[in-house]
Amino acid sequence: MRTLNVTLKNHSYPVFVGAGTLAKSGALLAGCGFKGAPIVISNSTVMRLHGKTLLAALEKEFGKTPVIKIGDGERFKSHESLFGIYDAMFKLRAGRSSWILAFGGGVIGDIAGFAAATFMRGIPFAMIPTTLLSQVDSSIGGKTGVNVPQGKNLIGAFHQPSAVIADTEVLKTLPARELASGLYEVIKYGAIASKSLLGYIEKRLPEILKCGARELEHIIMESAQIKADVVALDEKETGPRAILNYGHTIGHAFEAATHYRKFKHGEGVAWGMIAALRYGREVGLLKETEADRLIKLIRGAGKLPPVKGIRFDDIWNALMLDKKFQHGDIRMILLNKPGKAAIYNGIEKDSLCGFLKKFLAESL
Ligand SMILES: NC(=O)c1ccc[n+]([C@@H]2O[C@H](COP(=O)([O-])OP(=O)(O)OC[C@H]3O[C@@H](n4cnc5c(N)ncnc54)[C@H](O)[C@@H]3O)[C@@H](O)[C@H]2O)c1
Repeated sequence: MRTLNVTLKNHSYPVFVGAGTLAKSGALLAGCGFKGAPIVISNSTVMRLHGKTLLAALEKEFGKTPVIKIGDGERFKSHESLFGIYDAMFKLRAGRSSWILAFGGGVIGDIAGFAAATFMRGIPFAMIPTTLLSQVDSSIGGKTGVNVPQGKNLIGAFHQPSAVIADTEVLKTLPARELASGLYEVIKYGAIASKSLLGYIEKRLPEILKCGARELEHIIMESAQIKADVVALDEKETGPRAILNYGHTIGHAFEAATHYRKFKHGEGVAWGMIAALRYGREVGLLKETEADRLIKLIRGAGKLPPVKGIRFDDIWNALMLDKKFQHGDIRMILLNKPGKAAIYNGIEKDSLCGFLKKFLAESL
C-alpha cells in the first residue's frame, strides 16, 4: 500500500492506494480519527460485488454499519436520490456527529459527498472509490453535487473528504468499458503533466488492461498526485485548475449532443483529447508525430463508440452553451508537447468551427 497526502490550506487528507486496502478499510479509517459506525452510501451493484468485504472490515472496527443504497447510474445522481438519502439518514437518527462513507464510482462519490456537505450544514465523509475513474479523478478535489434537468452537476458544493481508500483489487470486477473510461483520464494526466506517465502506460498497457496490481497502483498514484498538486494550487477552480479540463470542453459537447447516452464520461474526454490533439497539430502547436503518438495511445486503451453520425449543429450548440465559449473569446486547453498543457485564450470561432466540421466528417 502507498499513501499520498492531499494538502490544502485548511484541510489535508490521506489517499491510501493498493491491493487489499478495502479489507483494511476499518482500521485505516479508525486511524484517521473516525469514530462510530459510518453511514455507507452505495448501490446494489457495488454492494453485491464488494459489500461483504467492506462490511466485515467496518464492523470489526466500528460495529453494526448501516447502508443506504441508491439506484445505479448517472440518472440517479438526482435531487430525488439526494432527498431519499436525507430521509434514510433521519430514520437512522443521524446527527452532527455522524459521518458518511461513499462506496462506489463517481456517481456515488458525488451525491454522497454532497449529502455530507449539506446534511445539518455539513458532516465529515470518507470515500472508497471503486471505479478507476473515481479513484484517479472524482475522489480527489472535493467537488460534490447532483444533476438537475437543466444540466449536469449544476447543484453542488466543494466539500473535501477526510480520507480516500483506493483498492486496485476491486477494479477486477469492472466491465472493460468502465476500466477504459478511467484509463482515458489517466492518459489525460500524462498528457497535461507527465511525459513519464505516458511512457509507462505505453509500455505496460497490456498489464494495465489485465488489472495488474503493481501497474494499477502506479498509474493511480501518479494520477492522484498530479490532481492533488493542481487542486492544492487552486482549490476552488479560479485559475490553474482549469488545466484538468483538458479534453473536457469538446468532450462534454459530444456527451451533451448525444444526450449523455452514447458515451461514458471518459469516452467523451477521449474524443475531446483526440480533437484537441488534432486541432493543436493543425494550428502548429504540436508536432504531427507527437499528436499521432498520443492518439494511438488513446485508441489503444479501448474501443471508442464512433462520433460519426453526430450532427455538427448539435455539437456546436452544446459548445456555445459552455461559459468558456461565450462573448466570442474562446478558451481551450491545448498541449505544447506531450506532458505540458497550457490555457489558450482567443481561439478563433471560424477556425474551430471549420476544424470541427472536418473532424466530424473524417473521424470514425
Ligand atoms: N467530482 C468530481 O471531481 C468528478 C470528476 C469526474 C467525474 N465525476 C462524476 O463521476 C461520475 C462518473 O463516475 P464513474 O465513471 O465512476 O461512473 P459510475 O459511478 O456510474 O460507475 C460506473 C458503473 O460501474 C459500476 N461499478 C462501480 N464500481 C464497480 C466495481 N468495482 N465493479 C463493477 N462495477 C462497478 C457502477 O455501479 C456503475 O454501474 C459522473 O457523474 C461524473 O460527473 C465527478
